[in-house]
Amino acid sequence: MVSSETTCTLIGGSLIVLLIAGYFGQHLLPAPKPKIIGLDLGTTYSCVGIYHAISGLVEIIPTQRNRSCLPSIISFLPNGSTLLGYDAFDHMETNPNYTIYDAKRFIGKQFSLESVEKLQKDYPFELVRTDQGYVEFIISENGTRITPEQVGSLLLKYLKQLVEQHLKIAKIKLCVLSVPAEFDDLQRQFTRRAAELIDLKVERIISEPTAAALAYGFHKKENVRYVLVIDIGGGTTDVSLLSVQNGMFSTQAMAGNNRLGGQDFNQNLFNYILTLVEDSNKKTDSLFLQHLRIEVEKCKIDLSTANQCLIDSKWIITREKFEEINQDLFRKIREPLDRIFAYINSDISGDDDDTNSRLTVNNIDEIVLVGGSTRMLKIRELIADYFQKKPNVNIDPDVAVTHGVSIQAGILGGVWPLNVSATEVRTAVEKIHIEI
Ligand SMILES: *[C@@H]1O[C@H](CO)[C@@H](O)[C@H](O)[C@H]1NC(C)=O
Ligand SMILES: *[C@@H]1O[C@H](CO)[C@@H](O)[C@H](O)[C@H]1NC(C)=O
Ligand SMILES: *[C@@H]1O[C@H](CO)[C@@H](O)[C@H](O)[C@H]1NC(C)=O
Ligand SMILES: *[C@@H]1O[C@H](CO)[C@@H](O)[C@H](O)[C@H]1NC(C)=O
Ligand SMILES: *[C@@H]1O[C@H](CO)[C@@H](O)[C@H](O)[C@H]1NC(C)=O
Repeated sequence: MVSSETTCTLIGGSLIVLLIAGYFGQHLLPAPKPKIIGLDLGTTYSCVGIYHAISGLVEIIPTQRNRSCLPSIISFLPNGSTLLGYDAFDHMETNPNYTIYDAKRFIGKQFSLESVEKLQKDYPFELVRTDQGYVEFIISENGTRITPEQVGSLLLKYLKQLVEQHLKIAKIKLCVLSVPAEFDDLQRQFTRRAAELIDLKVERIISEPTAAALAYGFHKKENVRYVLVIDIGGGTTDVSLLSVQNGMFSTQAMAGNNRLGGQDFNQNLFNYILTLVEDSNKKTDSLFLQHLRIEVEKCKIDLSTANQCLIDSKWIITREKFEEINQDLFRKIREPLDRIFAYINSDISGDDDDTNSRLTVNNIDEIVLVGGSTRMLKIRELIADYFQKKPNVNIDPDVAVTHGVSIQAGILGGVWPLNVSATEVRTAVEKIHIEI
């Protein structure tokens, strides 16, 4: 078994080799500018990266407010102007009916009238079902509509222009896109259309878990056979089991919980603070509650590095308390993991002969964490306990997928030192949905 320490050294070692090679390389000839960009069009955030030849480094292009990613939000103002990202986020309160988010949930997906009516309750903007069952959004008083792929294209255009400015290139023409592993052909086709609408040719589409595995270089490590990718975002948890052989990835199993994410941990802490607020007889209004929600989010983030945090400059929350308040949620993180192993071993009978072919936690060579919520120390701890092995956390979990699509872009560009092969074979695996 390869220990995590060895893995780190290997990654560190190859990075140093790349850096040294890059140093000499750069002094001999200028590195060609990247021609293909890596795009992660996410439900809540979208990001872009490039792979630099010779240095072998991935660069995530900073977006608004010097952040790595752009909120996937667009606000259509009454005067006809359009705002994106953080600028659009600022208008969610004042222009709720025409500020569109979550467009990715609707891309290339057909819905029944009943399910659109049900989904409408979650959104302040108006959903319209087309004759074919696709959903469009109303973006002005006169009833103008926009499709989810058009929303996607506006976000991609913004990110593409950031790269063009950054590299001082007139026009980027090629990209690699990531999509959720569970996306079917139609969803992939409509996501591709989002890029094509702005004249970007899609060189390849890869699934998000595969991208995350590529980010850690598991396409070129001989002793890595099984990679488990755990993605915990704001509202969802997804686990994918990948197998890798000769740079070829395939998904073996997927399990997810659409009602388990970072926001649920916030809500529990928020509810707890409310009991303290009531005890202190403090007057609460919506402004104060809004302030508390922001404080709660900050506090949770602080607890990933500190032993305690402070809410509204008076309530101290220890990490222990936070973990106690959220113990049920932490327990639920194990469920999709259990289900993955149950699924993968389901066609194996109980015969003694077969016990050797059962896949167990010991067969998992590498664990990759994706999504901001995986910064919670308790989550890292319980994953390490579950697998008796530390998960990989060297790459910022918010941009691990972007990092991976950028590497795929580099591989397709065939630029040294990435003349290795990496491909993804699509399998017919069905995702296991866990309901609460
Ligand atoms: C932007 O962020 C980077 C890295 O986080 C930092 O080094 C840089 O100083 C920041 N730039 C500005 C203008 O804040
Ligand atoms: C529309 O309104 C926004 C915000 O009020 C403003 O920043 C923008 O300049 C206006 N655009 C036009 C075309 O008037
Ligand atoms: C509808 O409203 C939008 C923005 O308010 C405007 O840009 C567009 O021209 C209008 N369309 C029609 C048909 O009036
Ligand atoms: C938004 O739409 C709802 C229902 O369609 C309507 O009741 C409300 O007045 C609208 N709000 C604004 C700010 O236009
Ligand atoms: C990559 O390039 C090196 C040096 O040119 C060569 O030795 C190696 O075989 C190549 N690898 C692949 C997978 O093509």
